[in-house]
Amino acid sequence: MRAVPTSDSNASPGAAPVRQPIIQPLRRAAIFLVLNIAANPASEDTVRSICADLSKLTRAVAFRDHDALLTCVMGIGSEAWVRLFGSLRPAELHPFKEIIAGSRHAVATPGDLIFHIRGEREDLCFELETQILMYLGDAVSIIDEVPAFRYFDNRDLLGFVDGTENPVEDEASEAVFIVDEDAAFAGGSYVIVQKYLHDLAAWNSLPAEMQEKIIGRTKLSDIELDDAVKPSFAHNALNTIVENGVERKIFRANGVFGQPGKGEFGTYFIGYARTPRIIEQMLQNMFVGRPPGNYDRLLDVSRALTGTLFFVPSLTFLEAVTTQAAASTTDNSIESSRTGEVPNDGSLGIGSLKGLARDE
Ligand code: HEM
Repeated sequence: MRAVPTSDSNASPGAAPVRQPIIQPLRRAAIFLVLNIAANPASEDTVRSICADLSKLTRAVAFRDHDALLTCVMGIGSEAWVRLFGSLRPAELHPFKEIIAGSRHAVATPGDLIFHIRGEREDLCFELETQILMYLGDAVSIIDEVPAFRYFDNRDLLGFVDGTENPVEDEASEAVFIVDEDAAFAGGSYVIVQKYLHDLAAWNSLPAEMQEKIIGRTKLSDIELDDAVKPSFAHNALNTIVENGVERKIFRANGVFGQPGKGEFGTYFIGYARTPRIIEQMLQNMFVGRPPGNYDRLLDVSRALTGTLFFVPSLTFLEAVTTQAAASTTDNSIESSRTGEVPNDGSLGIGSLKGLARDE
């Protein structure tokens, strides 16, 4: 198991934008809440309002028990971004790219907003979700709502420890947060979610040695298989991406969910990265195969029911959002934001963002 971070990997160096609390050790409870925004300007106003108010809502609930380490990350989908903020968009924000390969299907499903709530107490997660939904009211509709939990030893329902090779500390920040490649959105990140259901009867009928080959690690002791025995289709082999001699990591915070009485056993995959390209490459390797046909055998027993990509702006960005309509975005302000120059009128130069200085 990798060490739990000892420093705050979400902290921004110097005067850089404050980041959302993406990098956390696996918590006991999580809620994955995906919403659509109603098609009217008042609803868009309400959503813009919660951008600035989300950290206040989270603080109000988290204050009941600091030991519960309650956090919430908010992400915004591609179409919703344009509705809320106009044409200045994160450079790599686009709808989730569906993949069809043989019987394997990475479906693309709707989602304007995601709230990823985590903490050591499910009651506080529940309370924060309730507060968020009460705030948003009719402005949103529920697309998906998945309460998840940490299974023993941090295992998934297939029985394997999940999250071991997640990056920590500086390596995690390096993997997750945009720096200068998209200056207007520094401190932001991208997140891809997929809700999977497993055919546990089929999985459990496989001998443990075959399961270990499919994952690429031993089941009980969670040790990586030696390259001499690890197949090229192993999950951890297909998800190792090396570019110019450097391994490109993502940060995962998968949740376990299910209802045994209904035969429902699931993994909610959530992966954060400073570019969606890396996660998309992993999905290509899993679904199509590397080389094509050499696909991830996990997919013989796992079906993706959802698939959505969101941008996770910095906290500084969120807290600067006003309810002002996106239409006020001007070409000049887009240009100055793209180049990272902040105009001298005290604003961020993005139509619906108010000045950086906050009255706390
Ligand atoms: C069916 C749902 C999934 C399950 C049950 C699952 C489970 C696991 C397990 C047990 C491991 C090994 C332990 C670890 O290092 O965390 C692992 C590793 C990993 N998974 Fe998944 N995973 C799923 C989906 C995905 C998806 C969709 C992606 C990316 C698009 C992904 C990316 C990774 C990566 C990057 C690693 C670490 C590889 C390494 O560096 O060794 N996983 N996963």
